[in-house]
Amino acid sequence: MKEKIQQIRQQIEEGLASVSLRKSLFELKMKFLGKTGEITALLKGMRDLPPEERPEMGKVINSAREWAEEAFAAREEELKKAELEDKYASEKIDVTMPAAFSAYGTEHPISMVRRELVDIFAGMGFEIFEGPEIEKDYYNFQALNIPADHPARDMQDTFFITEEFLLRSQTSSGQIRVMEKKAPPIKVLSPGRVYRSDSDATHSPMFHQMEGLVVDKNITLCDLKGLLDEFARKMFSSETKTRLRPSYFPFTEPSVEVDVSCCDCHGKGCRLCKGTGWIEILGAGIVNRRVLENCGVDPDVYSGLAFGMGIERIAMIKYGINDIRLLFENDVRFLKQFKD
Ligand code: DAH
Repeated sequence: MKEKIQQIRQQIEEGLASVSLRKSLFELKMKFLGKTGEITALLKGMRDLPPEERPEMGKVINSAREWAEEAFAAREEELKKAELEDKYASEKIDVTMPAAFSAYGTEHPISMVRRELVDIFAGMGFEIFEGPEIEKDYYNFQALNIPADHPARDMQDTFFITEEFLLRSQTSSGQIRVMEKKAPPIKVLSPGRVYRSDSDATHSPMFHQMEGLVVDKNITLCDLKGLLDEFARKMFSSETKTRLRPSYFPFTEPSVEVDVSCCDCHGKGCRLCKGTGWIEILGAGIVNRRVLENCGVDPDVYSGLAFGMGIERIAMIKYGINDIRLLFENDVRFLKQFKD
């Protein structure tokens, strides 16, 4: 009997050394310790032994069983650990590997110019105000001294939603909204989208404008000229000059159109400036007394300057873009060229 047990131990030891899967280990365990296993059979066989031999044999067999159970448990632990290590090894991530390529975009030229404009004017103390794109006729026209039957309405082919509401055709509406809310001194920049029923190489039904408004005591055309000179030098080049030409806008009196010296030929005359040496960039003027009155600002105490420019136009001049539609087609080959 003892020999038999010795044999079983040896078989178990060899078996444990050779199994590498927990499933095979379980099968091996059943072969010896299962219901019909060899050690179980020995225990059952005790019945057939003479009673005086039973206690000693019982001890021997039981200690073999305990040993076997421990050996199987220990091996099971080992295999479990090895399996986990394999799993961790297969799921390991090398954080030093180069990242998979993913395409990244660039800032849109309109956003770049808008940001630059905001930076320039913020540096001169302007605050930003953004008004609504769906606007009342009152803010877009009437309060700006353009009553319902005024011919100046023809300059802006407007998308009306109802008789009272429209898609704003100019950011000048922001002037009124700001003056209604805030008493002078005012120094505000109002960027945003505007809409007009217009579409060709230099006009888009949706485009962007940047409005500026300063209201304080003793504001004159000299302030406007100084402000715009500084803006032009920062936006284009330190040699850029500005020129004011008389013009007409119902909300300013006097009104001017502002040109900058051509940034391509520096005034000599080229294709960009159509041979004149100058490029028109914005409309401006001294805020009309009526507009101040409409907003409850006393025109005998305060005066104001205002200007409004098209952001697309500035971008087209700055980057030499000849068709406004290129800015809205979202062709990455075009957009990729504008990197800061
Ligand atoms: N709102 C005008 C336009 O869209 C541009 C403009 C002209 C704005 C003169 C102004 C200004 O503030 O003073 O054509």
